[in-house]
Amino acid sequence: MGTLGAPISGTGVLLVGNGRQYLSPMSCPRHLGFLASVALFAACGFDPAVGAGSMGLSAESLELLEHAPDPEGAEDALQTILESHFGSVLAPRFPQHFQMGDAAGTLELKSAGRLYRSQCMHCHGVEGGGDGSSAYFLTPPPTDFRLGKFKWTALERDHPPRLEDIERTLEHGVPFTSMPSFLRLEETQRKGLAQIVRWLAARGQTERWLVAEWVQGGETELAESVIDMALSDVSKAWNEAAQHVLSPVSEPRPEEMVAERIERGRQLYFSDATLCSSCHGPELEGDGPAVFQKVTDSDGNSHNERVRDEWGAPSQPRDLRQGGFRGGSEPLDLYRRIRAGISGTIMPAAHESMSEEAVWDLVYFVLSEAGLHGTGDDAR
Ligand code: HEC
Ligand code: HEC
Repeated sequence: MGTLGAPISGTGVLLVGNGRQYLSPMSCPRHLGFLASVALFAACGFDPAVGAGSMGLSAESLELLEHAPDPEGAEDALQTILESHFGSVLAPRFPQHFQMGDAAGTLELKSAGRLYRSQCMHCHGVEGGGDGSSAYFLTPPPTDFRLGKFKWTALERDHPPRLEDIERTLEHGVPFTSMPSFLRLEETQRKGLAQIVRWLAARGQTERWLVAEWVQGGETELAESVIDMALSDVSKAWNEAAQHVLSPVSEPRPEEMVAERIERGRQLYFSDATLCSSCHGPELEGDGPAVFQKVTDSDGNSHNERVRDEWGAPSQPRDLRQGGFRGGSEPLDLYRRIRAGISGTIMPAAHESMSEEAVWDLVYFVLSEAGLHGTGDDAR
């Protein structure tokens, strides 16, 4: 069902006491012949605002293509290539390079696309660019999937997620952000939505790759072999995601979460070996100095500015005393966050030489400061 955005008037609209507008179900088929209202189409199950051809290239791509010999021709050509391999928002499909896994129990891709359009698009955008109509004032902004980077996964840094990582995000939402939990949906629906997220991300990554090829090569068309290489490379990382799960050799037992361990974690937090406090601050409030850099403008005036993440958003280290974490608050979640860092952000991975025990010390220090008593019992 589309949402009824603008106030509408006309046949079939019922105004209900609470101020919401509903359509009389009978009115859709009967009046289709002369309906002019966009909102009425939406209520009958159409998304007139999202036509098959409405998946465009990103603003970044268009800017890069300005340097191509024929920018408009390039835009058309690239859009055609993308559509021929990925379909459209109305009829999504994966190139053959992608392993589809066990499709049983997963919503058909087309229905999942429909669900994405009604549940997610207003935040995450038609192409998954994080630029939906509700996105404007949200901090943090809805994720732009097209970079293929995801923060809250169980994987090593910078690996595209497994479908189950995305499904987990859909189950829990991202606490302390506007990303809601979709637990109220059926599991098959969440599985379908995870496929759509993967589809949008892979399409976006392919777009970036092809635009770069086009601009660098000064081309007027792309060879099939170049397109195939882009699709193989993008799909390979997704197909192999499960090989990059980050798992500790062992996990401390609850009774090992002792004062000494927390104290060792505190010392590590303030040490040069981790630099945690340089970003998260001496009081753990997320106000350390390392997130600022000096920027000099064209008039020679300089000021301090927040370092940006890979999406271009100003970095804001977490207040670690907030009492919960976005990527999950179990000890194992925090182990992964600290060991791998957070993809796409300035939060670095722990140095390779840091022992597993030292990472656990940090985990339990962070948990104790957050007022959470991680027991290790229910960690996944
Ligand atoms: C009200 C706005 C809103 C809606 C609706 C919404 N999201 Fe999000 N979503 C966000 C925000 C904000 C983030 C960024 C969280 C962050 O940076 O930690 C996000 C992040 C995500 C992520 C990335 C998590 C990661 O690991 O980095 C996925 C996947 C996602 N959303 C999928 C969906 C899907 C699928 C839907 C629809 C079923 C949806 N979202 C609906 C706001 C929204
Ligand atoms: C260069 C700056 C920087 C350093 C160094 C750094 N962090 Fe972070 N950290 C961040 C930023 C930025 C975020 C927020 C990322 C986001 O959500 O987009 C973050 C988020 C976190 C989170 C929240 C995860 C969640 O699920 O909500 C934890 C926990 C954390 N950092 C712990 C640490 C620890 C422990 C260290 C030292 C080993 C450390 N950080 C070092 C910048 C940093």
